[in-house]
Amino acid sequence: MDLGLTGEVAIVTGGSRGIGRAIVEGLLAEGVRVATGSRHPEDWSALPTHERLMAARLDVTDPASIDQFVAQVVERWGSVDMLVNNAGKAYPGSFATLTDEDWHKDIDVKLMAQVRMARRVLKDMPDGGRIVNLSAIFGKEPNPRFFASSVNRAACTSFTKTLAKELASRRIRVNAVSIGFVHSGQWEGRPDEFFREIVERFEVPLGRFGEAEEAANAVLFLLSHPASYLTGVVLDVDGGMAKYL
Ligand SMILES: NC(=O)c1ccc[n+]([C@@H]2O[C@H](COP(=O)([O-])OP(=O)(O)OC[C@H]3O[C@@H](n4cnc5c(N)ncnc54)[C@H](OP(=O)(O)O)[C@@H]3O)[C@@H](O)[C@H]2O)c1
Repeated sequence: MDLGLTGEVAIVTGGSRGIGRAIVEGLLAEGVRVATGSRHPEDWSALPTHERLMAARLDVTDPASIDQFVAQVVERWGSVDMLVNNAGKAYPGSFATLTDEDWHKDIDVKLMAQVRMARRVLKDMPDGGRIVNLSAIFGKEPNPRFFASSVNRAACTSFTKTLAKELASRRIRVNAVSIGFVHSGQWEGRPDEFFREIVERFEVPLGRFGEAEEAANAVLFLLSHPASYLTGVVLDVDGGMAKYL
């Protein structure tokens, strides 16, 4: 399928590893000009060298850093057609162990990062642009083992659907991809037994973790022009794990 993205400009937050890097690679293969940002430049060496790729420092929890990053992209390429809010980090813990600080940090890197990035990028996004937010299955099917994620990802789902309605008059589509368990930087270094145990405990019907490229494929589709009638969708990439209808 021709995704029709050649020549467009995309920002992908947190593209240095994991799902973000797979999204960057997928967009480059589609002929897109891609800007990615993260906090640790030493990790960018894992990215491909490409004339259509720029990597720069970005902390999605810092409005000044966001402003500086987006300004650099616009200075280089003029506008931003697509935004992928991928950067994220888990603050694991039960209700009993999560502190106020954990809650603030979790909401800051998840919900508020998506809010701030969208607000800034929208100033330079033409009508017809697209936003895809990364989220987690636990936002739709809460689980106390992932307490903060369950609560804050539910807010991200509402953010996606509410923004989709607000921006529809500009033909800007806003969708989300909800991840179950996907191999990425955050799971690196664990033994095979760890993955088997998670898959069994959470009853993943396909019987395995997903690969970063499989998550990226869903993101690319939602960004693409063949998905032109999809907005406010939260697409599960979870190997069938979610139990709701
Ligand atoms: N993999 C899964 O099983 C899974 C499950 C549910 C949801 N998700 C969601 O999917 C997205 C991608 O996850 P992943 O597993 O691919 O993560 P990952 O491998 O840990 O990569 C996270 C990326 O985000 C960047 N990042 C983290 N904090 C940042 C900040 N404050 N500002 C800018 N960049 C930041 C990291 O770079 P720096 O550290 O250098 O900044 C890195 O590039 C996240 O939103 C995550 O919550 C993943």
